[in-house]
Amino acid sequence: MIDITDRVLNAELRGKITTAEEAALHIEPNMNVGTSGFTPSGYPKAVPVALAERMKKEPFKINLWTGASVGPELDAVLASVDGVNFRMPYQTNSEMRNAINANKVQYQDLHLSEAAQLTRYGYIGGGTLDVAIVEACMITKEGYIVPTTSLGNTASYVKQAKKVIVEVNTTQPVEFFGMHDVYVPEDPPYRMPLNVVASDTRIGKPYVECPLDKIVAVVPCDVPDNTRPLGAIDDDSRAMSKNLLDFLDAEIAAGRMPKNLLPLQSGVGSVANAVIGGFVDSDKEHLTVYTEVIQDGMFDLIDAGKLDFASGTALSPSPDGQKKLYGNFDFYAPKLLLRPQEISNSPEIVRRIGVIAMNTAIECDIYGNVNSTRINGSRLMNGIGGSGDFARNGYLSVFFTVSSAKKGAVSSIVPMVSHQDHGAQDVDLIVTERGVADLRGKSSKQRAKEIIAVSSPEYRDQLQDYFDRACVATKNADKPHLLNEALSWHVNALEKGTMKK
Ligand code: COA
Repeated sequence: MIDITDRVLNAELRGKITTAEEAALHIEPNMNVGTSGFTPSGYPKAVPVALAERMKKEPFKINLWTGASVGPELDAVLASVDGVNFRMPYQTNSEMRNAINANKVQYQDLHLSEAAQLTRYGYIGGGTLDVAIVEACMITKEGYIVPTTSLGNTASYVKQAKKVIVEVNTTQPVEFFGMHDVYVPEDPPYRMPLNVVASDTRIGKPYVECPLDKIVAVVPCDVPDNTRPLGAIDDDSRAMSKNLLDFLDAEIAAGRMPKNLLPLQSGVGSVANAVIGGFVDSDKEHLTVYTEVIQDGMFDLIDAGKLDFASGTALSPSPDGQKKLYGNFDFYAPKLLLRPQEISNSPEIVRRIGVIAMNTAIECDIYGNVNSTRINGSRLMNGIGGSGDFARNGYLSVFFTVSSAKKGAVSSIVPMVSHQDHGAQDVDLIVTERGVADLRGKSSKQRAKEIIAVSSPEYRDQLQDYFDRACVATKNADKPHLLNEALSWHVNALEKGTMKK
């Protein structure tokens, strides 16, 4: 067994150091199990693998609650042994996604700011959290748990759980101590205001507290976060980034934003990262970030001296970004802060400090409704994540989408979205590689004009024709639609064989 005694400074908890197999025995069939982990950082990697091995011999299922997406050592191993009955609130793992789409796992897609409180309210799993498994880089002399690359729902799950298992990961630097700001809000009617006024405000403690007797096992682990490489920045992403930056310059010139903008939030994935990358080459300075996931682009902004501070709930670097972060930890750490996802994504804070919310759509319709989660209306991709927390409440709510997908075979702008995550009321801008549709202060029909103008030229005439005929058929009703045709648009795309069923 790996020696973690130098990382477990509390004598009583040292006595609870054990193997992953022993610790996994605390988990019984149908239990609710909550874990650390967020996009996919800071999740437990030893106990879930041992649990999956046990499930191979004696099949049973658990209900799995996380912060957000987790790595294959948790989602994939449990999905592959059919070990999950219910999963929430977000995932990106292909095995888990396939199990959900095959009806083997029941999935609840949630706004990430809400997940912890919904479990505390007793709305999920009857309010019982049997076991929490959380990753730490160390345990202090007092027995406080020091988290690693994410905070997610860790503190809330530790507070609620009957039993806690701590995985001490030796690949995570102990220098993480100090990067977290742990605060679990009280529930109504006792909740107090969250006094965060900027991305560097601290309101909590740098560790997670837990009664020592609740910690039933401390497990060594030496498996690093299994983060994913980012796609190369392509011309479309570069164009979207430039379109947004030009738009923001005009906003500054119009006096609607300060020169250093407002706190930035940027969603997950390659497009989001490319957009942040665009800020590196811009003239913007003294930027701040109030976001959910801190990706590679943010480190580049720090390198360029343009980013003063970033707070989020997870560090989610690519493998290259991970090397850069760990190789220069002392340089980056003073500019970074990790919060519970209830705080990083708090709608109240996001609205008050005026976040510029930048997220990605799978498709959007000519009126500005956005689908971020379901391919062809049915098949789950990832989940809404924090996009709704930020989109509804941001100072400016931006959605990016390349104007066509599947090598141009499908228009990402459609008459009516096949599934809706974000209503038009929550969307200020749609940015494609073709330009910016500014939807602010516009009626449905005015929005349609803006959005069709940034669609792919290959589909633009078709969309305009749909809109014109819908206007005639509905006598220019507030939001003209031809219902049969709106749905057959998706059916036609499916029949072209370009979309997964
Ligand atoms: N029609 C059909 N399929 C489409 C499509 C469209 N209009 N647009 C994208 N897709 C498919 C892609 O082909 C790809 O499929 P594949 O995995 O089979 O290749 C998949 O959707 C993902 O698209 P990709 O271009 O790789 O996008 P991405 O990595 O930038 O991710 C989202 C885009 C929307 C899936 C991702 O941003 C997401 O999950 N968002 C929701 C959560 C979120 O916003 N979190 C951040 C909040 S802080």
